[in-house]
Amino acid sequence: MKVNGVSYRSIWFNTDSQTVEIIDQRWLPHEFRVVPLVSRDDFATAIRDMWVRGAPLIGATAAFGMAAEIARDPSDAHIAEAWEVLHETRPTAINLRWALDRMRAHVTPLPLDARAAAAHALALEIADEDVEINAAIGRNGLDLIKKVAAEKPAGDPVKVLTHCNAGWLATVDWGTATSPVYHAVEAGIDMHVWVDETRPRNQGAGLTAWEMNSHGVSHKVIVDNAGGHLIQHGDVDLVIVGTDRTTARGDVCNKIGTYLKALAAYDNDVPFYVALPSPTIDWTVSDGLREIPIEERAGEEVTKVWGKTEAGDVLQVQVTPDGSPAANPAFDVTPARLVTGLITERGVSAASAESLAAMFPEKA
Ligand code: MRU
Repeated sequence: MKVNGVSYRSIWFNTDSQTVEIIDQRWLPHEFRVVPLVSRDDFATAIRDMWVRGAPLIGATAAFGMAAEIARDPSDAHIAEAWEVLHETRPTAINLRWALDRMRAHVTPLPLDARAAAAHALALEIADEDVEINAAIGRNGLDLIKKVAAEKPAGDPVKVLTHCNAGWLATVDWGTATSPVYHAVEAGIDMHVWVDETRPRNQGAGLTAWEMNSHGVSHKVIVDNAGGHLIQHGDVDLVIVGTDRTTARGDVCNKIGTYLKALAAYDNDVPFYVALPSPTIDWTVSDGLREIPIEERAGEEVTKVWGKTEAGDVLQVQVTPDGSPAANPAFDVTPARLVTGLITERGVSAASAESLAAMFPEKA
């Protein structure tokens, strides 16, 4: 997508410097910074400390990190060590393990001197594939939005509520939940996006709002607690969120607070869609509540917030009393029964084992 008229992806290989570069998302929306990732620790830190984040982008970053390590030392022992170090960075997004497994399986049958080139090519392919998948999600989601738009009076925009950032910054490009929105805007449909701020790290207020602003999409940032009220009052036509891991039966694990939005949507007959690339489906698990590890992040993310002062300085302030501890579960699970549909690159599936298996027979 474009930033000040220049096309960017969230991660890319700079052929001049021969390094991987990323947009360092910690500084958005206030500063746009690009940083190189070189060493294994750079890649691990970037994922763990959320310079990059969002399940598909975590996967792509891990793939590039693995390729960089294989270029340094293509031995089986080194590949195994790199897999471990990168894998332990974040526990919930399944795309991380998916990308690492795919990289390892691709190169280990090859002779040592062929591994670096093959790993580099596959990392680039994984990134390109993500862009294609998300564009297809956008086209499939557009069909849903067109149906909603057709039933609305002229001049009344289609109002989408989204949570966290499942935008192009969370993927290599397009986003998952935002891709249908971008496609709808391109198709000339009048759209409005309610952007949940998404405490504690404010990926909605900081990242989704930045994306919407950059692309001229009508939007308003709301506090996380406002969603239920807007849904009750008919101000939301559909909810579209992303996911970090969806189980084989359609339970959806996503950013903390997603479940509450699903409950409010269900109670008010508002469709609740989840947009996801197929690598986000964990075919090895079924019961999301019991089988998905939920990342617990530092309490400091709750007790402190980042912001910009009127003087333009970006700094962190504490919002809680000295000494109050905080709990910070980063994800929750929305049971399949609350999910209207899963927007995938192959089409919209019901959130059920049967429907997912029919759509991805080679996986199920
Ligand atoms: O903790 P984050 O910012 O990595 O969480 C991101 C989300 O929860 C997204 O909704 C999810 O990864 C889907 S991104 C297309």
